[in-house]
Amino acid sequence: MKNYDILQHVKGESQFVDDILVPEGLLYAAVYYSQIAHGKIISINLDKAEKINGVKSIFTSKDIPGDNQIGGIIQDEELLATDKIEFIGQPIAIVIADNQLNAKAAARLINLELEKLPAVFDARKAAKNNLLIVPPRTFSQGSTEDCWSECDYIVEGQADSGAQEHLYLETQSAIAYPVEGGGIKIISSTQSPTVVQKVTARILNLSMHKVEVDVLRVGGGFGGKEDQATSWAAMAGLAAFKLKKPVKLILPRQEDMRATGKRHPYSSDFKIGLKKDGSIIGYEVTFYQNAGASADLSPAILERTLFHCTNSYYIPNIKATAISCKTNLPPNTAFRGFGGPQGMFVIESAIFKSAEVMGVDPAEIQKRNLLNENDEFPYGQKAENCNTKRTWEKAERLYFINKIRSDVKYFNDTNDIYKKGSAVMPICFGISFTNTSMNQASALVHIYSDGSVSISTAAIEMGQGVNEKVRQIAAEIFSIDIGKVKTESTNTTRIANSSPTAASSAADLNGKATEQACNNILLRLKKTAAEILGKNNFESIKLKNGIVYDSNIKTDLDWSKLIKTANLNRVNLSSHSFFATPDICFDRTKEKGKPFAYHVYGTAIIEVTLDCLRGIYKFDSVKVVHDFGKSFNQLIDRGQAEGAIVQGLGWMTIEEIMYDDQGQLLTDTLSTYKVPDIYFTPEMEIDFLENAENPFGIFKSKAIGEPPFMYGIGGYFAILKAMKAFNQQLDYFFNAPLTPEKVLMNLYRKS
Ligand code: MTE
Ligand code: MOS
Repeated sequence: MKNYDILQHVKGESQFVDDILVPEGLLYAAVYYSQIAHGKIISINLDKAEKINGVKSIFTSKDIPGDNQIGGIIQDEELLATDKIEFIGQPIAIVIADNQLNAKAAARLINLELEKLPAVFDARKAAKNNLLIVPPRTFSQGSTEDCWSECDYIVEGQADSGAQEHLYLETQSAIAYPVEGGGIKIISSTQSPTVVQKVTARILNLSMHKVEVDVLRVGGGFGGKEDQATSWAAMAGLAAFKLKKPVKLILPRQEDMRATGKRHPYSSDFKIGLKKDGSIIGYEVTFYQNAGASADLSPAILERTLFHCTNSYYIPNIKATAISCKTNLPPNTAFRGFGGPQGMFVIESAIFKSAEVMGVDPAEIQKRNLLNENDEFPYGQKAENCNTKRTWEKAERLYFINKIRSDVKYFNDTNDIYKKGSAVMPICFGISFTNTSMNQASALVHIYSDGSVSISTAAIEMGQGVNEKVRQIAAEIFSIDIGKVKTESTNTTRIANSSPTAASSAADLNGKATEQACNNILLRLKKTAAEILGKNNFESIKLKNGIVYDSNIKTDLDWSKLIKTANLNRVNLSSHSFFATPDICFDRTKEKGKPFAYHVYGTAIIEVTLDCLRGIYKFDSVKVVHDFGKSFNQLIDRGQAEGAIVQGLGWMTIEEIMYDDQGQLLTDTLSTYKVPDIYFTPEMEIDFLENAENPFGIFKSKAIGEPPFMYGIGGYFAILKAMKAFNQQLDYFFNAPLTPEKVLMNLYRKS
């Protein structure tokens, strides 16, 4: 195993927040949540709870010294509810006790006097009542008003996709310590230490330099800890600040599932117009995003839905409108793909339905409309180094797509109970935070006098291997053994004003900052080497495998001697470097610009076998040609692709979040919420598209974290095709997840 972090995981040596040795006097926190979805608090009674053994204190909104506000994009979310309750699971009080059980027991005894109000859970209903998080936004290109008359086919429909639970292995966690001078140090399982720092400072009415946030690693985030790790850290911070004692807050799994937001469910209407030859002339779509009770990251996620509403296709006339709807569910939040998958599911549904009307295979329409070099996206950016067609055509050749199709047909002709289906799924995903100002990162590199290297960046290691990539970058630039390089925790005192580790851009942004910082030191080292070797200039000096070369001739100066001498000669062996993605912009008044540094492309072929007696299915294979740029760690990149594909398939098929009519989460355990496991996982073949060097990525690579998630969308359509092979009267429906239950109910339905 090449990934250092994984090696430690397997040995059980990696530390997560709950493993950190705790100081004496540590107290434990439990949170008291709202049990109703909408209402007003009339009074909070703590009398009984306070009498429980070991309870030190109970905090409510009244105890917050600063501003009781955790909202990022919009300031619309309280840390602890004062009088308005807007969802089940909304934090109202924090109980601090000598152990977790006592804290929990006390929390159960808190009593609320309430006034219940009518609640809304459906996005379309919220839109009708004008319950919006932000005003709707529209991206347009060409004119959809004039285009319909040119079309031979016009197809309309609805496509809905469901929520998804992040199910990171490490639940939301934080430990807060009071420090000298009235400050607070927080260890948090967050993707965004700076947001934790900023919000905790706001809650405690402290300046940011009095709040230090440290993250060693995160046991999975998937977007669920981009914004939503903050409140738990701030609660632990509040208690530690008030009690002058360390406080630990670890959410039990069920509480985590109930109190945190998920991937946004979307409901969408589409209208698509095509010519006889399959070319798409016009596309109109309206997205209803179920944002939950407050903004969280919803407006940014809404925007990415618009950016990706045409997936890998060029469509000349477009009108896409997105509406963020306020409902009484926990605020939904970032999840791998960040709204992109929801947008892409709709265009794929529209194409699929058109194919049925036209009597052709959906792949014919998909292929005909693939992006070409310099095609313009609806937001004004042009497709550059566009590898969409290359990946599609290579996938056709490499995986013998015609044979797959004829095999599926033969199987279906010769089997009654089992049916197969296959689908092709191209993807196109933009890389950069769409909020331009967030595309920044920094790195702090030290070489110690013994030649060992320490690197701090803004990147959070959460299983995606970013730390290993950062180590590789430094080892490559210094040309030393990777064992000499250590990545440090992500800490706000070493790296300030950091963007979250999100948008798949951590390796690019932090990697480039690391590259620059290492190059700064390398230049000084070359000068030092030249001095030691008695040369006038350093241009002929190179470091290779821990040895200094002069004009490609090996010298007897090695890395450790060079570093030791540089240190004695008072050469600066540290560098801090800052990176901001150049040449990106977006004008929200015009909804045009160049928001992305580049796009990631790829094509997948998905095959499924359906058991038409039981409605259950098994994905046989996912075969991909993916544009990784020039990967510099194929092991990590392949792992990211595989993980994302399985997570995408899970979202489309078996992962079903259900609330009852009061807004109570029904799927709040792993017995009721099913996620893909090793048996679900299909055979995966992942081909690295060759000659795909990316001039804008670190070491010519491309970001990998999110894009392959969207291959999973093809799984939905593969199942639909298998269903159709069984029941020719089936009316296609676009309502993910396509659970076995839903499959069964529809297999025997006559239209
Ligand atoms: N992989 C693992 N193992 N765990 C995670 O939490 N998060 C995903 C992806 N891959 C995640 C993961 C998400 S949502 C994003 S945005 C990227 O990793 C973030 O990391 P990167 O920028 O280094 O790709
Ligand atoms: Mo990823 S959803 O951008 O954390």
